Amino acid sequence: MALVTLKELVQRAEQQNKAVGAFSVGNMEMVMGAVAAAEDAGEPIILQIAEKRLKNSPLSLMAPMMIAAAKQASVDVAVHLDHGLTLECIQQALAYGFTSVMLDASLLPFEENIAMTRQVSALAERFGASVEAELGVVGGNEGDTAEHKILCTDPAAAQTFCEQTGVDALAVAIGNAHGNYPVLPELRFDILEQIDNTVSTPLVLHGGTGITDDMFRRAVSLGIRKINIATASFDHLAQYAKAYTDTVDKPDYFKLSEEMARGVYDNVLRHIRVFSGQ
Ligand code: 13P
Repeated sequence: MALVTLKELVQRAEQQNKAVGAFSVGNMEMVMGAVAAAEDAGEPIILQIAEKRLKNSPLSLMAPMMIAAAKQASVDVAVHLDHGLTLECIQQALAYGFTSVMLDASLLPFEENIAMTRQVSALAERFGASVEAELGVVGGNEGDTAEHKILCTDPAAAQTFCEQTGVDALAVAIGNAHGNYPVLPELRFDILEQIDNTVSTPLVLHGGTGITDDMFRRAVSLGIRKINIATASFDHLAQYAKAYTDTVDKPDYFKLSEEMARGVYDNVLRHIRVFSGQ
């Protein structure tokens, strides 16, 4: 199998009525655990890292490892920059060989988001890479429905945005948020359905941690083709590591490394199975 683009994977997911899992990674154990899970599930995945995480996990070290892991995998893997905030970082990721980049200009005014997304699309095209953008604001979910209304993606605006930018995938805001939800979110499936009816671009659901399996299945039935999971993998790694070190007087590095990878593996496999309808 191969290092592939995000566009290829979301289009395939569209044909198969599935979603492809996009899993955030921050070290070697996370990369190995995520790829092993995808191989065991026999499904493609997206390995991703967000610009804001590069302080802990430098791109110069992560990028070659993520790309090598993708090339060696027995399933198709796309390597993606999540929440790119600066053109400089996006350019660097593309130069390292990432097959996809996300520009998160969702906090900018609509026209500026479009203009910057077009700039990124032109850049990515030179590298043969895909582009994901975001419209509406993911996050700020305190369980307040009124706030969801303010932040949710407007279906008509989504149509204009996709027409004018030609992005390969669009992240939508439907009451989802990053991190652990304080209460179960009430996702606005009515809005997702309207967006799906208006826009043919494959849709992306951020903030996957804490969303129930039934909600994932419903989201997939309404056009979500990429689902992002970050916090759950970081938490699993830390919990498995703690469970191991709590049981021994003198922790062994190699066993600890295996436990970290196993924590990520278990989380990724569980999600892939739901997203792919297994
Ligand atoms: P979670 O951390 O909530 O899983 O969100 C992941 C995400 O959307 C990364 O962009």
